[in-house]
Amino acid sequence: MAESDAIDDLLIEQRKFPPSESFKKRTLVAGTHLYDEASEDYESFWARQASELVTWNTPWHTVCEWDLPFSKWFVGGTLNVSYNCLDRHVLAGKGDKVAFHFEGEPGDTRTVTYSQLLDEVQKFSNALKSLGVTKGDRVNIYMPMIPEAAVAMLACARIGAAHSVVFGGFSSQALADRINDAEAKVLITADGGWRRGEVFPLKQYADEALQSTPSIEHVVVVKRGGNDVSMTAGRDNWYHDLIAKADPVCPAEPMDAEQLLFLLYTSGTTGKPKGIMHTTGGYLTHVAYTHKYVFDLHPDEDVYWCTADVGWVTGHSYIVYGPLANGATQVMYEGVPNFPANDRIWSIVEKYKVTIFYTAPTAIRTYMKWGVEEPAKHDLSSLRLLGSVGEPINPEAWMWYHEHIGGSRCPIVDTWWQTETGGIMISPLPGATTLKPGSATFPVPGVGAEVVDDSGKAVSRGGGYLTLTHPWPGMLRGIWGDPQRYKDTYWSRFEGRYFAGDGAKLDDDGYLWLLGRVDDVMNVSGHRISTTEVESALVSHPAVAEAAVVGANDATTGQAIIAYVTLVGGASADEQDLRNHVAKEIGAIAKPKTVYFTPDLPKTRSGKIMRRLLRDVAEGRNLGDTTTLADASVVSELQKRAAEAPSED
Ligand code: PRX
Repeated sequence: MAESDAIDDLLIEQRKFPPSESFKKRTLVAGTHLYDEASEDYESFWARQASELVTWNTPWHTVCEWDLPFSKWFVGGTLNVSYNCLDRHVLAGKGDKVAFHFEGEPGDTRTVTYSQLLDEVQKFSNALKSLGVTKGDRVNIYMPMIPEAAVAMLACARIGAAHSVVFGGFSSQALADRINDAEAKVLITADGGWRRGEVFPLKQYADEALQSTPSIEHVVVVKRGGNDVSMTAGRDNWYHDLIAKADPVCPAEPMDAEQLLFLLYTSGTTGKPKGIMHTTGGYLTHVAYTHKYVFDLHPDEDVYWCTADVGWVTGHSYIVYGPLANGATQVMYEGVPNFPANDRIWSIVEKYKVTIFYTAPTAIRTYMKWGVEEPAKHDLSSLRLLGSVGEPINPEAWMWYHEHIGGSRCPIVDTWWQTETGGIMISPLPGATTLKPGSATFPVPGVGAEVVDDSGKAVSRGGGYLTLTHPWPGMLRGIWGDPQRYKDTYWSRFEGRYFAGDGAKLDDDGYLWLLGRVDDVMNVSGHRISTTEVESALVSHPAVAEAAVVGANDATTGQAIIAYVTLVGGASADEQDLRNHVAKEIGAIAKPKTVYFTPDLPKTRSGKIMRRLLRDVAEGRNLGDTTTLADASVVSELQKRAAEAPSED
């Protein structure tokens, strides 16, 4: 293996955080035995997880059938996902255990136990059957973050219908496109949900979509917002009416391990969204295993809170399927983090004595912007473990999270994975791994990952492309209706390897550092520079809360680095200061040519920075597709400034 020059390795981070003695005392895994076992034979390792963590109706005969790039796991086995998430806990005497502490944005609360959840899921399963849903059908879900979203997903799983959840913040057009691609028969939605103190009219958006979705036969509407809605006779049904008349018993039918569990659409860089396919036995094994060991779950003591929305894969894998399969107690919160005030999240942590908290770097950087006084208002001493997902976490954001949320005592698991991978792939095990701020550290036991250079050769140190070297149980089974696109997108760049577009580097100790999407890598005077490293250098300046950098065409250097920076509330810094800071942190080659200050950055609705748009702005182009943007006004403001400001050398 060699060093690679595919992407330069510029930022060096030396701080190390081994697990504390007190954390190690209670942890599930303090040594290397899982790594040793998995590296010996990964298939047997996964088979052991499948038999220990999942209840099967019929045992499998083959662990993995691998016909590159198509895999099947636990072939011949049958199981029911909803049985695994509900019935078996109730049968084990844990029916009164809390599954969800639900907190609505207006402050209303509900406590949902495992037996209540099972009752509701059985009734709703029968309701779906009464609407003609049968095994193999697709059901669309377009809901706020309320327990009924989980009920809807589990009811589909119980009867073998595949769900396709569309995030409640998406437009009618996005919903219609996804319904039509999946040819869904039923849509489950709500009248409205609460967001920033107001009700957003979900049913109205659904009605607009329904004008162009011929496959939909019935609509189910949960009452949540209390807003007026129009109900179409013969098509639309109130959820509570269906539940009231449903038969309370719906036995969980065993499903084939490879039965389609869900589709989840992810927007690629180009073209129409891809319906990522996930199946039953392998997926459940993967999410139960990673939820247990990455979050060091003690199901009878922990209160776990993942702040994602069920509309994203994180909500599927680490709110619904992983935690419920493991019998965890969770917090589910409906609204935004700053309603009624900037300390809402921390007040919820204090109220429910949350022990494990899993969120995204974009949220952490927002909390940084709001200032340390917000978390300081609350007792966060119940927390023992923190997690991060969705983007590279800049070392300084990691340090802030560690210190101000984790009280310098909680390990942070930085978890790299994708909609396509189904579950966590690269992450520390918190009782076993010495952490480095900003590094996702190592593949979890059972996963094979390597960084390769342009020619596909594995590198032992330096930057390159992150690839996965062998199949894993939660892997996508394909793209709905488009097997060729599946091959082309993930399996064609490097032979025999899965590549989903991220850059990464290995340091001297073999730690993995994610460098962002390779489409975003900048080429400055022949140096391939990762956006993540320059952004992290900027964020390490005490005045900077958040930064996005892009490479814009430049007559002299090929591309020049343009930075967009958001300052910490009340702080000030000037352009020259920040340019020099980057030069000091990682070298003059990475100095931004221009720095723009902005109160906000353009982000997708799941919180990822949209660098493509910033590139368009920097190069004075008309903006392409902005429909996935969370707040379009941010970009027009930046465009105005770009047009006014002369760039500086
Ligand atoms: O670029 C990586 C980034 O998010 C992408 C996957 O996005 P999505 O399918 O929406 O799933 C997000 C939740 C799993 C990846 O290709 N990403 C995700 N987690 C990390 C990350 N980048 C760096 N570090 C992470 N921990």
